[in-house]
Amino acid sequence: VSDMLVDSFGRLHTYLRISLTERCNLRCQYCMPAEGVELTPGPRLLSQNEIVRLANLFVSSGVDKIRLTGGEPTIRKDIEEICLQLSNLKGLKTLAMTTNGITLSKKLSKLKECGLSALNISLDTLVPSKFEFMTRRKGHERVMESINTAIALGYNPVKVNCVVMRGFNDDEILDFIELTRERPINIRFIEFMPFDGNVWNVKKLVPYSEMLDRVVKEYPDLKRLQDHPTDTAKNFRIEGHCGTISFITSMTEHFCAGCNRLRLLADGNFKVCLFGPSEVGLRDPLRRGADDHELKEIIGAAVKKKKASHAGMYDIARTANRPMIHIGG
Ligand code: GTP
Ligand code: 5AD
Ligand code: SF4
Repeated sequence: VSDMLVDSFGRLHTYLRISLTERCNLRCQYCMPAEGVELTPGPRLLSQNEIVRLANLFVSSGVDKIRLTGGEPTIRKDIEEICLQLSNLKGLKTLAMTTNGITLSKKLSKLKECGLSALNISLDTLVPSKFEFMTRRKGHERVMESINTAIALGYNPVKVNCVVMRGFNDDEILDFIELTRERPINIRFIEFMPFDGNVWNVKKLVPYSEMLDRVVKEYPDLKRLQDHPTDTAKNFRIEGHCGTISFITSMTEHFCAGCNRLRLLADGNFKVCLFGPSEVGLRDPLRRGADDHELKEIIGAAVKKKKASHAGMYDIARTANRPMIHIGG
């Protein structure tokens, strides 16, 4: 294993997030503007073979966990084949997916057979009418069904991502916690982050400290669990609950010091930080016939330029980035 994935702060990158598509079957307000976003023309998106070729390069350089994102990864027609190919890469320990769960329940058992080993499902409200408001589409019931299917198929935990926004769903925190009482669900309350086109506003951000206060008032015995240094989440358990509770505190207590994440976007751009606007293209060198060595040089040079941490929420909100739907979280 070469050191191409170690940055100048000594952080080893073992986790690659691959965005498979810029398309989505929802239109979540925190992810994209109502009018949608400009889509990269098809020929400029990575093909299945190109994704596998690049993923293989990363895995041979120390990556042991790949997460498929989007857009919505399950709308890609070749999703099963991609899962199969990636899960067979020697050295890969985890093949995960973050999905909105809209069409998952009928696809999941196949995906599991193809090697999908971990599942994070986005769900921001338990109220169907609020779901329609936030996602600008219908489908609350189908997401709930997908969560149940995931549990039935043995995914444990099933992680549920909930972006908390003041005035929208901050009154539902305790209802979400109720889901963990008898089910192997890890509910993750996420601080609202700014991206291009999502009309971020600090007033809509519910800080971790505030969320935690509300939970502790109801559950004084809430226990912090030991988390892994590379975790995005701070994890807790409530005595007697089957599932667990977490907070992803990207804005008020960033976790950049332990960052092990890299990102490959659907257009073949490589991004070393969620909030770093700088990207380097891997698609064109690949199509020009670059060999592994040449590609590794490009990747290694980008990793070496990764910053120690993001610049703080106000700076991030002012800096041009991509819309979230292009990055995949
Ligand atoms: P696990 O691998 O299951 O821990 O999931 P994850 O948290 O790495 O990925 P997921 O796609 O479920 O993302 C959950 C939330 O964490 C989303 O809001 C992501 O945007 C955010 N997130 C993921 N990776 C990073 C990161 O490197 N930096 C920051 N600031 N946020 C991140
Ligand atoms: N802030 C925080 N989390 C977000 N996600 C999407 N947009 C945002 C945002 N603006 C979450 C989604 C998904 C994960 C990939 O990122 O809910 O679960
Ligand atoms: Fe890593 Fe950038 Fe996220 Fe910080 S903001 S944890 S450096 S990807």
